[in-house]
Amino acid sequence: MEATVRKSFPRKNQEVQMKKLRFENIEVCVFDAYGTLLDFSSAAVRAKDILGENAHALTNIWRQKQLEYTWLRSLMGAYVPFWQVTRDALDYALDTLGIADDRLRERLMQLYLTLDVFPEVPETLRMLQAAGIKTAILTNGSLDMIKTACRNAGIDVFLDDILSVEEVGIYKPHPSVYQLAIDRLGVAKEHISFQSSNSWDAVGAAHFGFRVVWCNRYNQKRDRLPATPDIVIKTLTELPSIVGIA
Ligand code: LAC
Repeated sequence: MEATVRKSFPRKNQEVQMKKLRFENIEVCVFDAYGTLLDFSSAAVRAKDILGENAHALTNIWRQKQLEYTWLRSLMGAYVPFWQVTRDALDYALDTLGIADDRLRERLMQLYLTLDVFPEVPETLRMLQAAGIKTAILTNGSLDMIKTACRNAGIDVFLDDILSVEEVGIYKPHPSVYQLAIDRLGVAKEHISFQSSNSWDAVGAAHFGFRVVWCNRYNQKRDRLPATPDIVIKTLTELPSIVGIA
């Protein structure tokens, strides 16, 4: 599928306005981690021997609660690291499914450190770096947690920088998180392309003023929020051509 840009999302009976688009002068590609580079569903899938049919439901409840807790804690001014949020969300999910199994709980947390990488990710990162474009992660994940996961997935070698919200003590989509990328990378907004498969994160980054590619892996509908990603793609395979290196 070709990368496309939507000037505005379609209203009823309105033809979608799409054209090919490239971002010019990109120096750094900044990526969200979970759901964009790393497949969070692979944790429960690998524990299917115990979870069985519940694996899919567990993934959905776990992820949804994990995100809700980041938003709620940010509103409450009650930041704790993402590792703790992930554990709390897992406890909620296991409780919801009526599962009380401490060994399984610990196993699932450890599996969060060995998540699968989406298939096109290593080659895409390698291509960007080979073309002189820097690659970085900007994630809610705690630094230890995300570094371990990247190392285990074998993509640490294709990443120039890993930035965590840990440094600002609040979660996405708070603007101070996106500002962190600018401050730490030392690159102006217009030279950064931000990629996320999480629509709300893509919207948050666009609202902040980044050039944004929404990698809509999960075939979601567009969010009704006050900003729009510039480009929508299905996988990161399309990214090199968007930044003009393929
Ligand atoms: C992250 C979550 C939001 O990596 O996916 O920041």
